[in-house]
Amino acid sequence: MNNTATTRDYYERMYTEQGFGAQRRYPNEELCRFMGRNFFPIPNAKRAGVRILEVGCGSGANLWMIAREGFDTHGVDLSEESIALARQMLAQYGCKATLRVANMLELDDAPGSYDAVVDVFSSYCLNATEGHRFLQTVHEILKPGGLFFSYFPSKSSDAYTNHKPATLVDEDTLSGIYRQDSPFSGNHYPFRFLHPNEYEQMLVQSGFEVKYSETVSRTYGSGKKRAESIMNPVLHLVLDTAEVFSFITIEARKL
Ligand SMILES: C[S@@+](CC[C@H](N)C(=O)[O-])C[C@H]1O[C@@H](n2cnc3c(N)ncnc32)[C@H](O)[C@@H]1O
Repeated sequence: MNNTATTRDYYERMYTEQGFGAQRRYPNEELCRFMGRNFFPIPNAKRAGVRILEVGCGSGANLWMIAREGFDTHGVDLSEESIALARQMLAQYGCKATLRVANMLELDDAPGSYDAVVDVFSSYCLNATEGHRFLQTVHEILKPGGLFFSYFPSKSSDAYTNHKPATLVDEDTLSGIYRQDSPFSGNHYPFRFLHPNEYEQMLVQSGFEVKYSETVSRTYGSGKKRAESIMNPVLHLVLDTAEVFSFITIEARKL
């Protein structure tokens, strides 16, 4: 099975078994901030002329916010079931978007189609070679001066630095998240990580100017160990095996 088929099978199964429970229902906070910085100042009357595409849109948690704000909203995902769920979610919020099943590596949009392309924890499913190709595709389908937003796993995450029994399929990509106490354990398909400077360099090489780059981290830990460490603060450092997962949040403009 090739990379894409493994990822598609995984997500098709998740969306079929768990429906809306497979993903968040509300938009990613970093995406909201990106939209706030760049698009919310646009007057309502002009927003329908601003085209925004989400790649790997899943069940539509980000799309409904973009659509509700009045932008011309588009979404693609590999999984048929995710697109069916996204249609339902948009309808629930009374919003409209153009949705289709497609591989983000094989988009047939005309060059210069979009004002922004957003990737919320989706292009990490591509391996290193595919990741480079993807940025070239994004560059091509953006209008001159168009913006790319990405929320992407950082190599400083414990899931990458302590990844066994997963193996590296290339210098950036794990065979999946196999360690059982890791967040995202069970995601058995290519899972890519980058350092912020590597991502910035890739974007510059692909013809972008980086406008914003920040890392946000979450700490995951066992509730039992947390409770024990509150009762016995001296043992806190020994007992709390909390795991850190970090995301690069990056914004770049097509030159
Ligand atoms: C972790 S989910 C994130 C979904 C959504 N962006 C969100 O924030 O709720 C990753 C999504 O990327 C999609 N995906 C993975 N590889 C893809 C590809 N090559 N082309 C299109 N979608 C892809 C998956 O089907 C899945 O829906």
